[in-house]
Amino acid sequence: MLQKPFVVANWKMNHGVKHSVEAAADIVVGLKQIPFTGGVVVCPVDTALMAVQTIVEESPVALGAQDVSWEDTGSFTGEIAPWMLREVGVDYVIVGHSERRKYLNETDEMVNKKTKNALEEGITPIVCVGESFEQRQEGEQEHVVMRQVQKALDGISLGPAHSILFAYEPIWAIGTGQAIDAEEANHMHSVINQILIDHFPDQVVKENTTILYGGSADEKNTPGFLEKQHINGFLVGTASIKSQQFVEVIKAVHNAT
Ligand code: 13P
Repeated sequence: MLQKPFVVANWKMNHGVKHSVEAAADIVVGLKQIPFTGGVVVCPVDTALMAVQTIVEESPVALGAQDVSWEDTGSFTGEIAPWMLREVGVDYVIVGHSERRKYLNETDEMVNKKTKNALEEGITPIVCVGESFEQRQEGEQEHVVMRQVQKALDGISLGPAHSILFAYEPIWAIGTGQAIDAEEANHMHSVINQILIDHFPDQVVKENTTILYGGSADEKNTPGFLEKQHINGFLVGTASIKSQQFVEVIKAVHNAT
């Protein structure tokens, strides 16, 4: 796994331009008090990307988008190509979030094509995987997540300059305030890690991949997750909306690593 831990804010459809800029500025200031050497990424809505970039460009905070097209140009109304995200300073993109899989019918094949297209443009994908409550009740979580990861990686190889992040987000833990047990998350991360080992050379797994946890991650529970071998950061929703709380999450991660 990539050595440094990541803390990624997924603001979803919560902040417009004004609040995104304010939140980003707060995080930049907050980070000055924390000698955190891991990665910090903020993912605003597309309309706020340019404005947020002007806030974070001289800081350790990186810019992420929440989605990307698998196409590069042409008649695809409403879509945004990776090179267009690059143009405004985007380095990371969330791909296949469960909310997009659910509400916009994103399939594993689309996730794979988006992941490939992002990588080709040098954008680091943060690929989201995770089982539903029903799937867990049926004991299918490993199978579901394995299939999602394998399909996302289909035909993908990583050059030395490219990285890929996975975020294990059990759907039933998202937005509930009730995170999954750290040991169980670690088990699911180990399942994902094994697929990475099967798919990529050892060196690539070590240096160019990492696995984040998402689903009610906050400043209180993150240290417990980080004690686990295969958990190396967080994709944070609710606890990233208030910038001060997100800074607390980064602080907690810093203190725990
Ligand atoms: P919450 O942190 O609100 O559970 O959201 C997690 C998530 O979906 C991040 O992508």
